[in-house]
Amino acid sequence: MAKWVVGNFKMNGTNEMVCAYGETMAALAAKSSTTNHLVVLPPLPYIAQLQKAFKDLPIQLGAQDCSIFEGQGAFTGEVSNFMLKDLGCGFVLAGHSERRHKMGETQSLVIAKVKAIQQEGLMPILCIGETKEEYDAGQTLAVLQNQLSNLPQGPMIIAYEPVWAIGTGLTASLELIEQRISEIKAMLSRTTPVLYGGSVTLDNVKDILGISNVDGVLVGGASLKPEQFYQMALS
Ligand code: PGA
Repeated sequence: MAKWVVGNFKMNGTNEMVCAYGETMAALAAKSSTTNHLVVLPPLPYIAQLQKAFKDLPIQLGAQDCSIFEGQGAFTGEVSNFMLKDLGCGFVLAGHSERRHKMGETQSLVIAKVKAIQQEGLMPILCIGETKEEYDAGQTLAVLQNQLSNLPQGPMIIAYEPVWAIGTGLTASLELIEQRISEIKAMLSRTTPVLYGGSVTLDNVKDILGISNVDGVLVGGASLKPEQFYQMALS
């Protein structure tokens, strides 16, 4: 079954890097095609460039964040889902732990973003996950339940990313990933794809995608090298 392989560049990249990324991905896609759903989330300034590069490729585009305001208007610095859609984005992240913890995004703001994304007909990828302190205190399930509360109806993808596994090289064990994904699916009152994220690399992606209840992976650092990331999508 096709799984999701989503690359989150975070605040990384340059004009030159993104240009080369597009060319390399096109060359790789011409050589071998993947049956998985491949999605790339570049920083906002590079979306238009990758939209051109991916035009005829089976690679979809998305954004890492969005405004809660719709359409266009007097909201200095904001980028609406209308604009993201106009640039060819089909997906938008909401609630990434870096935005929750470093930018202070609250659960109600995250839910408002999910609604704004759906309103424009785009697919939200809602990130949830516990910190190391919450994990150690045995609060994981309560944290996840709270992050899944008040979700609007409508299509979405959930990405479970334990905060202690993001960018640390500390991947959750395969047993723990399977258990958490099944607990998350039990908390949802509908069928929603649930991805795993947190230090996913070329070395562990096959095993993680091999877990039957895992619907895909959200990849940060390892998505920045196109050869490596495309190889991951072929898993
Ligand atoms: P990482 O990041 O793969 O670099 O751990 C994952 C993420 O933050 O989505």
